[in-house]
Amino acid sequence: MLTIENLTNEIDGKAILKGLSLSINAGEIHAIMGPNGAGKSTLAYTLGGRPNYEVTGGTASFDGVNLFSLDPHERAAAGLFLGFQYPVEIPGVSNLQFLRESLNSQKRARGEKELNGGEFIRLAKEKAALLGLDMDMLKRPVNVGFSGGEKKRAEMVQMGILDPKLAILDETDSGLDIDALKVVGAGINAIMRKPDKAVLLITHYQRLLDYVKPDFVHVLAGGRIVKSGGPELALDLEREGYAEVLGAEVVTA
Ligand SMILES: Nc1ncnc2c1ncn2[C@@H]1O[C@H](COP(=O)(O)OP(=O)(O)OP(=O)(O)O)[C@@H](O)[C@H]1O
Ligand SMILES: [Mg+2]
Repeated sequence: MLTIENLTNEIDGKAILKGLSLSINAGEIHAIMGPNGAGKSTLAYTLGGRPNYEVTGGTASFDGVNLFSLDPHERAAAGLFLGFQYPVEIPGVSNLQFLRESLNSQKRARGEKELNGGEFIRLAKEKAALLGLDMDMLKRPVNVGFSGGEKKRAEMVQMGILDPKLAILDETDSGLDIDALKVVGAGINAIMRKPDKAVLLITHYQRLLDYVKPDFVHVLAGGRIVKSGGPELALDLEREGYAEVLGAEVVTA
């Protein structure tokens, strides 16, 4: 579904990703872990098409299409979803307005029939219930005054409504309380654990992986994937730390 080869990029002239390769097939869940500043969020933003994240080399193919030839909204319409480490607030725009417009603009781009008001509300209610988010929250402006955990839940409601093919979730577990972690984990499984979908989970801890079991775990350090393995790699890292598992020279490279 997604094949990244030798990706390099720069932000404001500074090289961050330095030859990153990663391949994700439909039906798979991949986790990326790695030290602070390694380039995990940069990878997510670069795939999403954030301005100023300049691709300087390498390729990324999404369902056979050159991802970098698409504008950000075209990537979204093609089925790419990004869950942000720090979800943005949009004062003056309610969640419901935002979600309905996002969904219908994606449907328009794909030549599908748009949802009318009633159909959309039914869908929103179903997905909000899945994530244990009160519908009243969806009437409020996007993320304004939401707690950290509420922002993450609202983001997963958005994912449920947009129903992407590939979700890249950047520290979706941060800020969640113990019960919310379970609810969000179950929500990710319900929405994304399907043979025709895939997930890339960026996380620092095993806790989310207890609920959303990864098929592969990768370590991103110094702008590239330096180690890949199965779910046991996350447990080894948590027990022993990056320097022990990778060797100190790799972590600081
Ligand atoms: N606008 C920018 N200008 C210069 N450097 C930047 C910019 N944005 C990010 N960086 C740098 O890129 C590097 C990678 O940052 P990134 O946010 O991708 O790390 P991360 O792996 O997601 O870390 P964390 O685990 O803390 O979230 C960091 O050294 C960061 O300071
Ligand atoms: Mg980050």
